[in-house]
Amino acid sequence: MKLSSLLLLPALLRQTLAYTAFSDATLTALPRPGQDFDIHTGALLAPILRPRVPGTAGSDAVLQHFVDFFSRELPDWTLSFQNSSSVTPASGGREVPFRNLIATRDPPWVHGEGDVGRLALVAHYDSKLTPAGFIGATDSAAPCAMLLHIARSLDPALTKKWTAMSASAEAEPDALDEHTGIQIILLDGEEAFHTWTHTDSLYGARSLASEWESTLNPALSTHRTPLASIDLFLLLDLLGAANPSVPSYFKTTHWAYRLLASAESRLRSLKILGSEPAHPFLTEAGKGDGDRWVGGFIEDDHVPFMARGVEVLHVIASPFPSVWHTIEDDGAHLDGATVEDWAMIVLAFAGQWFDLEGWFEGAAGETESGRGARDEL
Ligand SMILES: *[C@@H]1O[C@H](CO)[C@@H](O)[C@H](O)[C@H]1NC(C)=O
Ligand SMILES: [Zn+2]
Repeated sequence: MKLSSLLLLPALLRQTLAYTAFSDATLTALPRPGQDFDIHTGALLAPILRPRVPGTAGSDAVLQHFVDFFSRELPDWTLSFQNSSSVTPASGGREVPFRNLIATRDPPWVHGEGDVGRLALVAHYDSKLTPAGFIGATDSAAPCAMLLHIARSLDPALTKKWTAMSASAEAEPDALDEHTGIQIILLDGEEAFHTWTHTDSLYGARSLASEWESTLNPALSTHRTPLASIDLFLLLDLLGAANPSVPSYFKTTHWAYRLLASAESRLRSLKILGSEPAHPFLTEAGKGDGDRWVGGFIEDDHVPFMARGVEVLHVIASPFPSVWHTIEDDGAHLDGATVEDWAMIVLAFAGQWFDLEGWFEGAAGETESGRGARDEL
């Protein structure tokens, strides 16, 4: 890591975030989603490609798919729901239930809820009420599937690293300097039922941000609330159409955007990505302080979190996909290579966030090239 990029890290993170760049061997060994992203039969994606309006049977089924996935494949993760209900402009006075699902994995030595910072990877799983039959493949079925793949791919490497750290810390208790966990947040009720307003939209995110802001961790915790435990809120939305452009929206997290863009460019130069876009997905790695920062124009699930001081990296295509909010935003209109590539880019970013160089299966014995790659970041 070059000193210049180190200096861009906020002071708090600088102490806990080692972020060693992956070696080429590790990037090459990262697990791929393969058939699991097939739109008809894929174990991760296909079950989400159905209408899933809050409070309907489709929503129940997709939520169950997530619960089954974590219970079956990731038993070390803690699942919790954050539920709320609200009348909507389309509910005829009835309360509609909104259910956010949160899957968390913390290092084994962390016991106090307030003593761990977390990388939160976020997408919304609800689909829009209209047009009838709307699937929302880019919005946000594909991003949800990406998060499942990322969680599943990081898990064995986290287990190995954390187990080794726990073992060595028995001799050397001060060695446990990393207190960083991971959270997958699958939000409900992002879409408006009628027209987007402050009260008709972001039902799940508004409820979760407000609850987590007012839940106090035990006295003397490092982080006062679950909201304050979020080191970075990385939100994926409107991804999966070919040739996306994702600008860097916020100056305060441009350092994280640059790390994500660097993951993309290294994966591309290693020919690990299957898409061949005219320009990188992440178009603004070189942006400076004096350039135009458009953050704030796109309202999305990050808004209630950002309003409470959470650092946000918003990964949303701008312009939106051409199928946005139409019946054509379905599985058939996804670009398979782009969906897979996004999953790999965010996986590489997250793996480096947790400093997992050397802990992935199939990349062993390449630590020399790993050291070389560290200087490129
Ligand atoms: C929240 O909703 C989920 C899914 O419907 C349900 O299983 C859970 O019991 C609910 N939790 C609470 C506290 O109501
Ligand atoms: Zn939408």
